[in-house]
Amino acid sequence: MTYAIQCQNLTKTFQQRVAVNNLTLSIRRGTIFGFLGPNGSGKSTTIRMLCGLLLPTSGSGTVLGFDVTTESEEIKQRIGYMSQKFSLYEDLTVEENLQFYAGIYGISGARLEERKAELIAMAGLEGREKQLAGSLSGGWKQRLALSCALLHQPELLILDEPTAGVDPVSRRVFWEVIHRLAKEGMTVLVSTHYMDEAETCDEIGFIFFGNLLAKGSPRELIAQMDAANLEDVFIALVRQAESGDNRVSPGEKGRIQ
Ligand SMILES: Nc1ncnc2c1ncn2[C@@H]1O[C@H](COP(=O)(O)OP(=O)(O)O)[C@@H](O)[C@H]1O
Ligand SMILES: [Mg+2]
Repeated sequence: MTYAIQCQNLTKTFQQRVAVNNLTLSIRRGTIFGFLGPNGSGKSTTIRMLCGLLLPTSGSGTVLGFDVTTESEEIKQRIGYMSQKFSLYEDLTVEENLQFYAGIYGISGARLEERKAELIAMAGLEGREKQLAGSLSGGWKQRLALSCALLHQPELLILDEPTAGVDPVSRRVFWEVIHRLAKEGMTVLVSTHYMDEAETCDEIGFIFFGNLLAKGSPRELIAQMDAANLEDVFIALVRQAESGDNRVSPGEKGRIQ
C-alpha cells in the first residue's frame, strides 16, 4: 500500500454549512503531511472524518486501507490521534495517564512496562513519572499526550494543532520527535498554524473554507507560485480564492496565522 490516506470528494455539511468541500487527497506512507488553513477552514472536521469519528456527508476515503464510513473501528485501533482539545487527565500523574490509555488499547504486563519506559525516554519525561499532568507546562503536556497516542505503536499518527500555544523551545523538541518517528516509517498528518513547522513537512495541503487550494512539497509550492517563501504562497492563494470565491462573505473570512 503506497498511501496511508486516500480520500475522494470527501464532504461534510453541518446543517446548511459546508465545512469540508469535495476534498480529494492522497498521503504517502512514511511522510509528514502538514495541513494548513485559517481557523474554521475544516481542518479538524477533515481529521475527525479520517479518524472514523465523524461520518462524511458524501464522498469516500480509506485510511490504512480501511473505509472511513464502514470500517471506523479498524481505523481507530491502528492510528494514534491527538485531538485539538487537551486529552490528558490533569489529576492523574504522568505514569497514570500512560496506564489509563494503555488500558483503552488493551496493553498490560511486560509490554506495558516496556512501552512506558520507551515513551517516557522518547518524550524526555524521565524523573516526572509521579508528577501530576495538571502541573506540567504546556510543552510537557503535549509530549505526554503524544506518548499516550503512541502507546499501541500506531502506523499513522494524526495530530490536530499539537503545538498551538506551546513555547518555541517545546515546539522545536516536539517536532524533533515527529521527524524521528517519520524516519522510522510512521506516517504523520498534522495540522498547524505555524509556517516554520509547515516548511519541514514533506507535503503540505492548504485548506481555505473547506476547499483544498493547493497541495505539494514546500519547494514545489514556492516554485509554482513564484513566491519568496511559504507565507507568500499562502497569502497569494488566499487572495486568489477571495477574488474568485463569492460564497465566503467578508465577515467569515479567516486569518492566516
Ligand atoms: N459539530 C459541528 N456542528 C456545526 N458546525 C461545525 C461543527 N464542527 C465544525 N463546524 C463548523 O465547520 C467549520 C469548520 O470547522 P473546523 O473543522 O473546526 O475548522 P478548523 O479546524 O480548520 O478550525 C466551521 O465553520 C465550524 O464552525
Ligand atoms: Mg481545528
